Formats: sequence, C-alpha cells, structure tokens
Amino acid sequence: MWGTSILPLAALAALPCANAITLHKRDDPAVFGLPIVRSERSQALQKRSSKVASTDLYNVQNMYYMVNITIGTPAQNVSLSLDTGSSDIWVNVPNSTYCAADDDPCSSTGLFNLKDSSTFKMLDYEMNATYVSEFLAAGPYATDTLVIGGAAVKNMEFALAEESRNPHGILGIGYAASTNAAGNLGKEYANLPEALVSSGAIKSPAYSLWLNKFDGTGNLLFGGVNKARYEGELQTVPVLPLYGKYYSLDIALTDISVKSTSGTKSFASGLPLAVSLDNGSPFIVLPQDMVDPIYKEFGAGYSSTASAAYIPCNMAKADYNVTFGFSGATITIPISELVFENYTEKGFSKDDCIFGISYSEPGVNLMGDVFLRGAYVVYDLANNEISLANTNYDGGDDDILEIGTGTAAVPGATLMPSAVTSATGNGASQTIAASASLGPETGGTTTAYVTGTATVTTKSGGATSTSSKGLAALPTSKPNHLLPGILGAGLLLAL
Ligand SMILES: *[C@@H]1O[C@H](CO)[C@@H](O)[C@H](O)[C@H]1NC(C)=O
Ligand SMILES: *[C@@H]1O[C@H](CO)[C@@H](O)[C@H](O)[C@H]1NC(C)=O
Ligand SMILES: *[C@@H]1O[C@H](CO)[C@@H](O)[C@H](O)[C@H]1NC(C)=O
Ligand SMILES: *[C@@H]1O[C@H](CO)[C@@H](O)[C@H](O)[C@H]1NC(C)=O
Ligand SMILES: *[C@@H]1O[C@H](CO)[C@@H](O)[C@H](O)[C@H]1NC(C)=O
Ligand SMILES: *[C@@H]1O[C@H](CO)[C@@H](O)[C@H](O)[C@H]1NC(C)=O
Repeated sequence: MWGTSILPLAALAALPCANAITLHKRDDPAVFGLPIVRSERSQALQKRSSKVASTDLYNVQNMYYMVNITIGTPAQNVSLSLDTGSSDIWVNVPNSTYCAADDDPCSSTGLFNLKDSSTFKMLDYEMNATYVSEFLAAGPYATDTLVIGGAAVKNMEFALAEESRNPHGILGIGYAASTNAAGNLGKEYANLPEALVSSGAIKSPAYSLWLNKFDGTGNLLFGGVNKARYEGELQTVPVLPLYGKYYSLDIALTDISVKSTSGTKSFASGLPLAVSLDNGSPFIVLPQDMVDPIYKEFGAGYSSTASAAYIPCNMAKADYNVTFGFSGATITIPISELVFENYTEKGFSKDDCIFGISYSEPGVNLMGDVFLRGAYVVYDLANNEISLANTNYDGGDDDILEIGTGTAAVPGATLMPSAVTSATGNGASQTIAASASLGPETGGTTTAYVTGTATVTTKSGGATSTSSKGLAALPTSKPNHLLPGILGAGLLLAL
C-alpha cells in the first residue's frame, strides 16, 4: 500500500516482555525520520545525528502519503508514495508507456533518468508488480545510490517502471520476502529497511509511522520511536506468519466495538481476522459480513454504483468512537476521522459522505490510513512484532529513542499476554476460496498471477472491480496492496 510510517522507540518500563524493540536513549541514536509535514520541515531533522535519517512525507488529498528521496549521482529528486503493504521501490522513467504521454503525467513527482547517473547499474531481471488495485508496473531491476532522509544507501536495488500506470512510483518498506523478485523469481534482495541496516543508518529493520489528523501530515521514523507522538504505552502484538513465513505486516484483529453515549456495542463476529496495517490503502477494508452490522449502527451502506461506502455526513459530528482491539491492544478512532466530509460520489444521496470502512476483496483485509491516523505504529521487522498506541497529535517536541537489536525487553512497549498468533483472513487460500464462490454474474474481472510453478486465478467482484466513476476516479481509491508477495509466495509454500 501507499503511505508513510515512522518507527517509535519505546520507553523505559523494563517489563519482562520477550521480543520487543529495545529502546535505548542515546546521544547518538541510529534513527531517522521522514516527517510528512506539509508546511514546515519537521523538528525530527534537528535531532538527527549521523546515525539518523529523516525525510518529510506529505499527504495528497488525504489519500496517500508521499516521501521525497533522491536516486543517482548526481542526485535526482523523486517523490514516491510510501507503502507498508509492498516491498519494492520502483520509479518512473521518462520513456515509460505512461509517462511519455503528451500531457506529461509524471512530471510533478519526478522521473529517474538512468543515463544521467554515473553510479547506475542495470540488473538482468525484471519486476512485474500487480497490486490489488490491478495497477501494474513492470520493468528491469537496477541498483544505484539512494538517499532517504539524509541516509545514503549505495547500490540500493529498485525497479525502473518502463511500463507504468501511475504518475508516481512507490516506496515499499514491507518484508524483503515480499519483493516482486523474491515472490516471482526467487531472488530475495535487501530491500530498503534491510539496506538501511547494512549501510549503518539504523540498527534494526524497524520504523515508526505517525500520521496526523485527517487534514494533516505525518512522519516516518526509521530505527526509532518518538515518544512525543503517542499516548499511553506502546502495546506489542506478533506479526502473523503466512504458511510459516513473514510476508506481510499482518496482525490479528480480535475486537471491534462502537461506543456512543447510549453504551458500547461489540462487533466481534468473524474475529480474529488477519489484517494488514497497510498505509497504501486510504481505507479500512474488511469482509462484508463484518462491515454490514457496523453500517447498520451508523446508517451507513455500500453503493455498488459508486463502488464506495457512504455515511450521512452529519455523523462526522456525532459522539461515537470505534475501538479496534488486537489481543488487548486497543486503538480508538472517533467517527469524525472515518467520515470523508468533503468527498461525495455519484450515486450517493446529497447528504451522504464517503465512509472510511469499506468491503474488502477476498483475502485482502487492510487497516489503512483512516486507522493509521489514529494509531502510532512501530513495525519491527526483525522481531516480527508490531507495537501500537493511540496517536498523540499534539505532543510537542520530539522525544526520540533508538530501536536497538535483539529481543531484549522493550522499556515502554509491553508485549500483550496471550496474544493471538495465528488468524486467517489474508492470503492465498482465503482469496482462492472466496473467489471460487463469486459467479460470473458479478461482472468482475479475472486476473491470473503466474508465480513460478503456480498459477493463481482470482476473481474480483463487480462491486470492487475497475470503474471509471465513483471512488475509482480518486487517485488511490483502490488499496495498493501488492498481490504477488502474498499470493505468489504464500501459494508456493502452501502447495
Ligand atoms: C517533496 O518534493 C515536492 C516536489 O519538489 C515538493 O513540492 C514537496 O514540498 C516536498 N515535500 C516534502 C515533504 O519535502
Ligand atoms: C531537489 O530537491 C532539493 C530539496 O527540495 C532542492 O534543493 C534541489 O534544488 C532539487 N534538485 C533539483 C535538481 O530539482
Ligand atoms: C526506454 O529506454 C530503455 C533504454 O534506455 C529501453 O530499453 C526501453 O525499451 C525503452 N522503453 C520504451 C517504452 O521505449
Ligand atoms: C506482467 O504480468 C501481467 C500479468 O501476468 C502480464 O499480463 C504482463 O504481460 C506482464 N508484463 C511484463 C512486461 O512482463
Ligand atoms: C470519544 O472519544 C473522545 C476523545 O477521547 C471523548 O471525548 C468522548 O467522550 C468519547 N465518546 C464516547 C461516546 O465515548
Ligand atoms: C471540509 O471543508 C471545510 C470547508 O472548506 C473545512 O472547514 C473542513 O475542515 C473540511 N473537513 C475535512 C474533514 O477536511
């Protein structure tokens, strides 16, 4: 998916939790942040040391989060959308089928001119990335110097999108096992989080994501935790493996409850469910049978005409809070953050606004930006753990701690006891099973993904299939979750 992330460094509790992030307060922390601050440069930059890198991220139409990096020698500026739901970096090139069009669709985010870089090296294999959105980018892998937030990585591997359907590239920061090269070709490489460790910029492949309110910005902090950006304590839950391996930043959603002045209602049917904390999706997307009772509570619904969920706009002012539980760790989102007040859709009645909880595609359940704006999330790829706390939108000066190595206790981050360590919902088998039940009359499109020895055919229902109207007309209406990493690799192992 696309988005921004920050890694929080936890504090000083000394609870005997096994595999958490080690938080060290040091004068010279190996962290770097990428603020997603629209107007001014983040203060995180001031705290940066030689072991810290910081990059600004900015939000486009509240739909996705961009980060500025440079590639090549001399450095060329490119803006990419951040994505915790995929693992490759790819950039547009000037002569791509898409970018070469007369209206110059890629010019605002920058193009990479390989001929202008003295450190560029082409590799002899290709990326072919298909996302849930059915978006495609394809082209050769290459290496060059990449600078992000002041941290330079030499010979960073990325792909050139000679074929592209998007005005900007993607900065995927998920597991290395989910790169397209790993999933399709069996060629796993050190993707950005790992390359930043190898280059010495950070200690451990871990990062914290802080997104500001609906109208706001955010920050991605590699190698650290910013205590000023969350409330209470970080609570740690395990990442869920898929077929015994870690491909996707999935955790178990164990509870959903809605609190209003008239009481609390739980919507736990169908849980636990594996969900991906994916900032490449603007929305929370969950199975229809889980979402429908929530719609009923809010007078919301799903419009197949618009391919979007709707809710009465005035619900943005209602006193409701939605709490998502993960084995005891909880994140509470006020309903105001779930209503896209200033967006409407054809097919909606005039008092309806877009609702941030929508139907998922089979096997792809995502906690996207509407969730992540309410949650400070530390993604610890080394220990396969995710730590969560409610976002502090107004925490003042940075208080950054480094994430160290090893599995020692994490002061400030508490491992949830008896956390759910396996759950279904995401991945190939769910996708295939659910797809099989979709008849041709749903009018969806069929896509075949060829992954080595296995061919997976999925069918997306009419409600979520490509459409030129409704949400599909918005820049990132579809989650940008990468399919090959989950489907391909997962299926190969399952067979
Ligand atoms: C990133 O680069 C774009 C284009 O140069 C610029 O408009 C934007 O302000 C930059 N964003 C950040 C967060 O630095
Ligand atoms: C790249 O971005 C930096 C920071 O915004 C700016 O100072 C520099 O002039 C840009 N370089 C080019 C070639 O546009
Ligand atoms: C773009 O240029 C590269 C070499 O620079 C070439 O291999 C590729 O075929 C070109 N792509 C298109 C669509 O012209
Ligand atoms: C990428 O994969 C898609 C789907 O399998 C296929 O249709 C397309 O031809 C491939 N593109 C390239 C350049 O290999
Ligand atoms: C929802 O959360 C807000 C902020 O914490 C709080 O002020 C409000 O009382 C809560 N409403 C309900 C119904 O719990
Ligand atoms: C919607 O637009 C109004 C008027 O421009 C603005 O005051 C409000 O903050 C916007 N709401 C959101 C959620 O962006």
